[in-house]
Amino acid sequence: MSKDFCNLYGPWALITGASSGIGEAFAHAIAARGVNVILLARREEELYRVRADVVAKHGVECETLVVDLAVPSFIDQVEVFLGDRELGLVVSNAGYNPIGSFEDIDREAVLRILDVNDRAPLLLAQSFLPGLAKRGRGGFLIVGSIEGFNGTPWSAVYSASKAFVQSLGEALWGEYRKRGVDVLVLSPGATDTPILRAREVEVPGIMTPAAVAEYGLKHLGNGPCAIPGLSNRMILGVLKFMPRKLVSKAMGKALRAVVERSKI
Ligand SMILES: NC(=O)c1ccc[n+]([C@@H]2O[C@H](COP(=O)([O-])OP(=O)(O)OC[C@H]3O[C@@H](n4cnc5c(N)ncnc54)[C@H](OP(=O)(O)O)[C@@H]3O)[C@@H](O)[C@H]2O)c1
Repeated sequence: MSKDFCNLYGPWALITGASSGIGEAFAHAIAARGVNVILLARREEELYRVRADVVAKHGVECETLVVDLAVPSFIDQVEVFLGDRELGLVVSNAGYNPIGSFEDIDREAVLRILDVNDRAPLLLAQSFLPGLAKRGRGGFLIVGSIEGFNGTPWSAVYSASKAFVQSLGEALWGEYRKRGVDVLVLSPGATDTPILRAREVEVPGIMTPAAVAEYGLKHLGNGPCAIPGLSNRMILGVLKFMPRKLVSKAMGKALRAVVERSKI
């Protein structure tokens, strides 16, 4: 348990997309530091599983909140649920990531990407950042992606949605840094979560969700952006100096291979 962490980011943390993958890892990493956690996602059974595990391992208070972030009024549900609980940390992690050619992703899926990956973190920021700033301490972490740094063929809408939160989070870091609130965009590369496992593709340099979440929490006070994994940082470093045309071709080649080998 970390007293400093609890003092800055406790007593309660809200984690979206906590029913699996990186969000589940955040739930454990935050609870291990002694902060109570609220787990938000759609699948109630999975949330119960994570809650039982978190309580057994870390002994903090843990609550579950079944919410669909694609529903416009989700923020009202969250605010009502929280009531007068003191929130010190928000981890906006939930994401939706269908891959394929632009024409293969139907309108419903395109809108869902924008709702879950962009509108949800935006409304969470609008709802909770003023309160954290008033308190004079707290954290707001948004999970982006290395895809947010460059438009990525075969993942056009998803990479654009991650560019939105990359820009939003970095700007908010600048606005809130002197008001005691640590805003961070955590931009992972390939991470071993159910979505990647279901696609049954081999990705070199893949990270564990636990390593990604730990990296995010360690860099929370060191925004505006953190990229877990040396190889991810090196790839982005190289891409920065390449002509955009070549970057698009290289990213497209990598994603195309994933789409072709993918089972879903
Ligand atoms: N895995 C990677 O390689 C990778 C790389 C870069 C960035 N990321 C980002 O990391 C974040 C977590 O992804 P992950 O890899 O851990 O995937 P994951 O295991 O599939 O987790 C996604 C989480 O988001 C929740 N979610 C999805 N749609 C939702 C909705 N409409 N309402 C509420 N919750 C919703 C899911 O819960 P329910 O289904 O129960 O609702 C689940 O808990 C995402 O933002 C993703 O873009 C992942």
